[in-house]
Amino acid sequence: MELGLKDKVVVVTGGSKGIGFAAAKLFAEEGAHVLISARGEDALNRACDEISTKTGGTVDAFPADVSVVSDLDALTAFVRERYNRVDVLVNNAGTGTYKSFLEVTDEDLEYGMAINFFAQFRLSQRLVPMMMENGGGTIVNVAGRTAYQPANPPGSTCTGPAKAAELRFTADLADELRLHKIRVNCVVPGVVITPDRFEKWEREAAGNDYDADIALARREKIIAESGPWGDADEVADTIVYLASPRASYVNGVSLLVDGANKLSYTRIIRDYQD
Ligand SMILES: NC(=O)c1ccc[n+]([C@@H]2O[C@H](COP(=O)([O-])OP(=O)(O)OC[C@H]3O[C@@H](n4cnc5c(N)ncnc54)[C@H](OP(=O)(O)O)[C@@H]3O)[C@@H](O)[C@H]2O)c1
Repeated sequence: MELGLKDKVVVVTGGSKGIGFAAAKLFAEEGAHVLISARGEDALNRACDEISTKTGGTVDAFPADVSVVSDLDALTAFVRERYNRVDVLVNNAGTGTYKSFLEVTDEDLEYGMAINFFAQFRLSQRLVPMMMENGGGTIVNVAGRTAYQPANPPGSTCTGPAKAAELRFTADLADELRLHKIRVNCVVPGVVITPDRFEKWEREAAGNDYDADIALARREKIIAESGPWGDADEVADTIVYLASPRASYVNGVSLLVDGANKLSYTRIIRDYQD
């Protein structure tokens, strides 16, 4: 199916790993000019090399922390100078802090909002003028199922509301921008198996007892018993579809991509503690 993304300028935050990387690769396969952004420069450069080698596409990288306003300004300036347009923005960078309510610190709370909802709001606000100048564009936000469903234990009071704000932001922004021919949608992943994220949770769950071989064996058992669990490519397919003109009448939607499996990472923690 021709997706109509050839030569489009696509910005993907959190594009060096996981879902963002998988989406960036797909956009490049479709012939788009892709800019990936993340904090770590080594991973960004590796991702750039891998995508351009595998797809033959043009990929640029710009290091930026989406929770830092001056980094978002610098990213915007780079987009203006390098392409002077943007057709697709994928607000993918984000993370979760899972703690019981009384353990959440002010820093957790502020960072949770800054890296998730505020970053999506702020970068959209900076790039939408370029979309308007060029007659339209599309934004895909990436939220998470904690927007709908508590992940307790250990608790998602910090992350859930930040992700839920992204859903509401998507609907509001789509309504406000529709007459400018800018669509705004949101993808809401369930548990997605990115090796980095799995390992982080496994290390947290096992503490000093962490052992990579045991972790891998447990991981395979958990996946076999409680699937289906998604992989980054399955979420990326949805992102790229929503960003493409093939989804031209899909606007303001938050689409759950979780294989109907309502289990969460907390299952991993419980399995470690059993
Ligand atoms: N994986 C899941 O099961 C799952 C489930 C629900 C929702 N989600 C959401 O999906 C999105 C992507 O998750 P993922 O699982 O693909 O993550 P991942 O594999 O951990 O990759 C995260 C990406 O974001 C970048 N990043 C992290 N913090 C950043 C910051 N402050 N500023 C800029 N970039 C940053 C990382 O690079 P650097 O660290 O170098 O910056 C990396 O490129 C997130 O919004 C996440 O909340 C994921």
